[in-house]
Amino acid sequence: MAEFSKAGASTEPGSIESRSHQAFSRGQVVFPDGTTRVTVERDPIPRYISHGEGAYLIDVDGRRFLDLNGNFTTLIHGHAFPPVVEAVTRQIRSGACFANPTEQEIELAELLCGRVPRLEQVRFVSTGTEAVMFAIKAARAFTGRSAIAKFEGAYHGAYDWVEVSQAASPQNWGAADKPSSVAHYRGMPQAVLDETVVLPFNDAETTVRRVEEKASSLAAVIVDPMPSRAGLLSPKAEFIDALHTVCRANGILVIADEVLNFRQGFAGASQRYGLEPDLRAIGKIIGGGLPIGAVGGRAEVMAVFDAGTGRPLVPQGGTFSANPISIAAGLAAMRALDEQAFEYLETLGERLRDRINASISKHDAPFCVMGAASLLRIHPKKTAPETYRQAYLSPGESEIMAALGRHFTRNGILFPRAAASCLSTPMECADIDFVADVFEDFLAAGDLPQSASR
Ligand SMILES: Cc1ncc(COP(=O)(O)O)c(C=O)c1O
Repeated sequence: MAEFSKAGASTEPGSIESRSHQAFSRGQVVFPDGTTRVTVERDPIPRYISHGEGAYLIDVDGRRFLDLNGNFTTLIHGHAFPPVVEAVTRQIRSGACFANPTEQEIELAELLCGRVPRLEQVRFVSTGTEAVMFAIKAARAFTGRSAIAKFEGAYHGAYDWVEVSQAASPQNWGAADKPSSVAHYRGMPQAVLDETVVLPFNDAETTVRRVEEKASSLAAVIVDPMPSRAGLLSPKAEFIDALHTVCRANGILVIADEVLNFRQGFAGASQRYGLEPDLRAIGKIIGGGLPIGAVGGRAEVMAVFDAGTGRPLVPQGGTFSANPISIAAGLAAMRALDEQAFEYLETLGERLRDRINASISKHDAPFCVMGAASLLRIHPKKTAPETYRQAYLSPGESEIMAALGRHFTRNGILFPRAAASCLSTPMECADIDFVADVFEDFLAAGDLPQSASR
């Protein structure tokens, strides 16, 4: 359970006496907005962290929090997991990185390919973004086509094509049955927008029609089986079926982005939802908390990376690809994630979602909870969203999420407001009940902003 210091308001990040405030003042001099990631939450300024211990984080002012962020769902074993600490320490004593391959990279690849159906071969890279990028390049090389299709609001990292419509809004997203390709940053090349077809998640009819219209130019459709930024939306079985059918009929590859959702089970998320991708991008948990990504899939497609007999169709290198420290950490983390560990996380996740749902029903509150396995996301909406547009927050709903986030923080829980929350193996039922009790208190207080939707 959370215990946090009795330090007074002066240790809150907003207070000028706090160490977070002092750090932020320094950061603002050397970083454009004081930090180095757009995703850092600030309310009003970021909370700086001193260290992590299992399921908990301790900030620079000595406050202790249950961590439901886990570095954006990476830390499935929490912080400073002893087997990872030992593996990394051992590896760094033997050298940090080499230009030659290591036996351990084969071991991690064997572990992944041994668990996941249709994952016949992999290549390691350093981030999920790179894994997505190389999956798309592989699909292009395999099909000889250049365009891709992606789902509105889905986050796949920072490769231009997948950034299209990542944050589309009612002002620019266009008709529901013909979503616009929305630039993600000023100056995004028109060619990128022209070569990216945007599809509505869970809308089988529109997806099939849009894919058929552009079929001859499409190399791949990239899909996250439960897109988290778009709302942690549950995929409908008929939508997954329709996607397969239209892609197969038109020689278009299916790329599953499981960078985040690989944590949904021993064999990942596609397996759970009946998606049979040609290629997968994975990352986060497979690096045990160190930077990693992997692109993998059918050997016939992965052959585009084959440099054994000359220049491959897709050259893929990377100074830090398959770096021994990430591989060592990943092996330690993944070995500890046996089927029992996933079952344990599943039980914790169900317990938390059930308790949150019970509170929502008890208070007839304008909320719903989405997610599966060790992931969840609370929406300030009475009806569970099925699409990005339904999950999109009005300004009033954003205020409600800000109020909920502050309530969690005040009570010693770091809760991501605009992303998925995640659980980790060091958590116990008492931690889950603590989160559920804090949510119940929020609803019981009953002072929701008036704009809450019903
Ligand atoms: C679904 C998905 N794809 C790709 C990425 C990009 O991964 P990375 O941040 O390691 O580049 C992320 C990161 O959050 C993600 O959630």
